Amino acid sequence: MNIKKLIADSIAVEIDGVDFEKMIIESVFVDNGDYCLPCFALAKTLHKSPMLIAEEISSSLKVSQYIEHTECKSGYLNFFLDKSKVAEEIIDELKSISAFKNEKNNKIICIDYSSVNLAKYMHIGHLKNTIIGESIARICENLGYKVVRINYIGDYGTPFGKIIAAYKMWGNSEDVDRRGIDALQDLYVKFNQEAEINPELEEVARNYFKKIEEKDEEIYPLYQRIINIAVKEAERLLNILGVKFDSWRGESYYSEQLDKVVNMLNSKNLTKVSEGALIVDLSQFDMPPCLIRRSDGASLYATRDIAAAIDRYDNYKFDKMFYVTGHEQMLHFKQFFKVLELAGYDFSKNLEHIHYGLFSLPTGKISSRKGKQATLVDLIDYAKSKANEVIKDRTFTIEKPDDVAWKVARGALNFNALKVEVGKDCLFDVDKAFSFDGETAPYMQYSYTRIESILRKAKELKVNSKADYSVLTNEAFELVKSCNNVRNAIEQAFTKREPSMVVKCAMDICKTLNKYYASTKVLDGESAQISAKINMLGIVKNALTVLFHLICIDTLQEM
Ligand code: ARG
Repeated sequence: MNIKKLIADSIAVEIDGVDFEKMIIESVFVDNGDYCLPCFALAKTLHKSPMLIAEEISSSLKVSQYIEHTECKSGYLNFFLDKSKVAEEIIDELKSISAFKNEKNNKIICIDYSSVNLAKYMHIGHLKNTIIGESIARICENLGYKVVRINYIGDYGTPFGKIIAAYKMWGNSEDVDRRGIDALQDLYVKFNQEAEINPELEEVARNYFKKIEEKDEEIYPLYQRIINIAVKEAERLLNILGVKFDSWRGESYYSEQLDKVVNMLNSKNLTKVSEGALIVDLSQFDMPPCLIRRSDGASLYATRDIAAAIDRYDNYKFDKMFYVTGHEQMLHFKQFFKVLELAGYDFSKNLEHIHYGLFSLPTGKISSRKGKQATLVDLIDYAKSKANEVIKDRTFTIEKPDDVAWKVARGALNFNALKVEVGKDCLFDVDKAFSFDGETAPYMQYSYTRIESILRKAKELKVNSKADYSVLTNEAFELVKSCNNVRNAIEQAFTKREPSMVVKCAMDICKTLNKYYASTKVLDGESAQISAKINMLGIVKNALTVLFHLICIDTLQEM
């Protein structure tokens, strides 16, 4: 329900160029009603005092069943709503979960996220990337878009030559079979250490990489084996996070389309040779040149992205495509978007780079374990152990403690990846993240379980009389209003590509809910009154279910 519109509709006065709906605001103090119309801005145009304007508007108001009465005070027209009527209407409108979702539309959005470089362990930055991408994907789906999730894996480049070089010198097949990704990582790290002492090793790695590119009979299968192991590990971790991709087509696939890209750009007279390399000059647009082909004939990051964008448009005919990465890749995206535009690809205007700030752990926590950056595995393990601590004294009758622990752990991880605005840097204080106090995931999950528990008890009471909404207090009205706001918040989050707005909306509901609990005994009173309160909690439950899903937080039955 659009409460502001409903109030604006009761205003009979018409003033050229004035949209009352936009002027109406929520009152700060209860004494000033629920909503008010400040009349100061109108004084200039109408050459009357704000007070007089308020009185004139007030005296010609149309009768509305939702407005109890109005008052003119200090240049404001204050509206006092019939709260139980408004609440009843909103509850009725929102009682099914589909009221918090849009109908399907025919539009397609591709999202390129997670996109890990397979030569390295996944780390805390990948959590941020993956969860921002997943949350945006879910927000799009909520609004009816069809989403294609693309994991553009980094399966190309000299790092793989390094792993193979190291394997040839120090590795063995059984160890790789047995320890998988860990064996590969050890080889990669050892290579880099040795190459510092003996820089000639770099050349060896480059040669192995060349052999990969040439699909050398011996080396290429080895490369494929490495990729398989790394992909399996990435899949395993993403599965734990609850994220599944539609496409894993990565950089190596597009490295083979170098000629195609070069020919296309040549035919449009966009290329130039500079120091042996092929470039697109972007100086006109205040950007350094976009490198297309290296002087040794290899493709570049931008070349592969150009090929990928064209391929994806051919495959999916997307209406929009988002790429999620850190700020540091901003120039890269600007450059190849521009090249696609210059080459006449109309879809280039629908490409968007969503870039996020640093996400780091405070020192002394797991970030310094083993003296290296925390891997995603370390982070997940640490979160699990914290979650276990938090729930260890609780008893569960419905859910398994292990499941609860994992859902709490995952909730805390994801919440912290999303709570701060995408573009801002943020510190992930893993210990604070598990507190039940303050703005945390456990606080939200716990708020939700309280609804579940009341609804379970209510079922036993078997209340089914017609609801009497007059029992809803001011606190209840606030709660209904916060649910009424959900659709708007999701739409805003989409427009701004900002999952933190969904987090905020969910958090607001939880806080309002806890204020309500503090003021009211839900299961006390006559059955018609209990019915009204239960119906209201039903919509709060639906709202939170939808919102939690959008920010990748699990709902729990008990906690
Ligand atoms: N693999 C890259 C990295 O880890 C991110 C890829 C982002 N997507 C893209 N289409 N360039 O830095």
